[in-house]
Amino acid sequence: MILGIETSCDETAAALVTDEGEIRSSVVASQADLHARYGGVVPEVASRRHLELVIPVIREALADAGATLADVDRIAVTQGPGLIGALLVGLAAAKAVAWSRRLPLVPVDHLDGHVASLYLEPDPLEPPFLCLLASGGHTLLLDIRSHTEQKLLGTTLDDAAGEAFDKGARLLGLGYPGGREIDRLARDGDPGAYDFPVARLPGLDFSFSGLKTALLYAVRDLSDDDLGARRADLAASYQHAIVRALVDRARAAAAETGRERIAIVGGVAANSDLREALPDAKAAPLALCTDNAAMIASAARWVEPVPYPRYLALDAYASR
Ligand code: KG4
Ligand code: ZN
Repeated sequence: MILGIETSCDETAAALVTDEGEIRSSVVASQADLHARYGGVVPEVASRRHLELVIPVIREALADAGATLADVDRIAVTQGPGLIGALLVGLAAAKAVAWSRRLPLVPVDHLDGHVASLYLEPDPLEPPFLCLLASGGHTLLLDIRSHTEQKLLGTTLDDAAGEAFDKGARLLGLGYPGGREIDRLARDGDPGAYDFPVARLPGLDFSFSGLKTALLYAVRDLSDDDLGARRADLAASYQHAIVRALVDRARAAAAETGRERIAIVGGVAANSDLREALPDAKAAPLALCTDNAAMIASAARWVEPVPYPRYLALDAYASR
């Protein structure tokens, strides 16, 4: 089995996955409550919390799988991109566990991990396909040609889609993380109530900063009472604009590359409006959309392991 470890942002996660892609256990300790009062992730607070949680979370993943380290034949860990201090905690823990058992270590790219959330049992997707990866840090359109080959077709020029959700939620006075809050509130609102602009860029890139400004102006013009009354309409219209941008571009990218299948991964792939707007797309299972370690162990199946003890020199990277 592969032991996966993920600490790139504010989730401390460990999972056990077989070579066939069966999840034996997946433990995710979210730090969201810890960061909520700051309205976003505080990197140093995240690092310190990872340090406290990483070993208990690994122990729990082993226990849930009814396994011990003797059942593990390699350790997979997120090497980047992400918060550098947070990544270093996971990488150091992975090195220590691997070294203590003389196991190989597999450094995994977090974004490859999100794509590999589609390769897990019981319903794995086989490449090729067009993949929309939308998370708190990234918005990418990828032509996935095989398990190891991909081409970047488009990305965001400013905010990531999840970041747009989080910043919008903050403007609306909702909690952190904002995507899920907007998703929930939008169910009671009218997506046609406000006509928020969707940036029309040439090519397959995205831009969400204008949309955020439009929401800021709409909120600023309302009294506190009116904001209370219109909050659900604002959330629904704002969400609708983000989803429209994602869906338009994903369909355009599929047409351009001739890919018949579209897949969606990353935290924003949990959005109910997005999932409904792409009924024919393959969406990652809900539990595997937001950060987890099963997807990291899954991706490790196509990465060359670094033998003992050479990986002790590995470093983390903050951006791709
Ligand atoms: O993939 P992820 O857990 O972390 C990163 O790699 O960034 O994605 C987190 C992002 C956050 O911005 C969060 O607001 C967003 O995913 N998110 C959602 C939903 N659930 C999480 N956005 C929209 N609708 C949701 N239901
Ligand atoms: Zn992520």
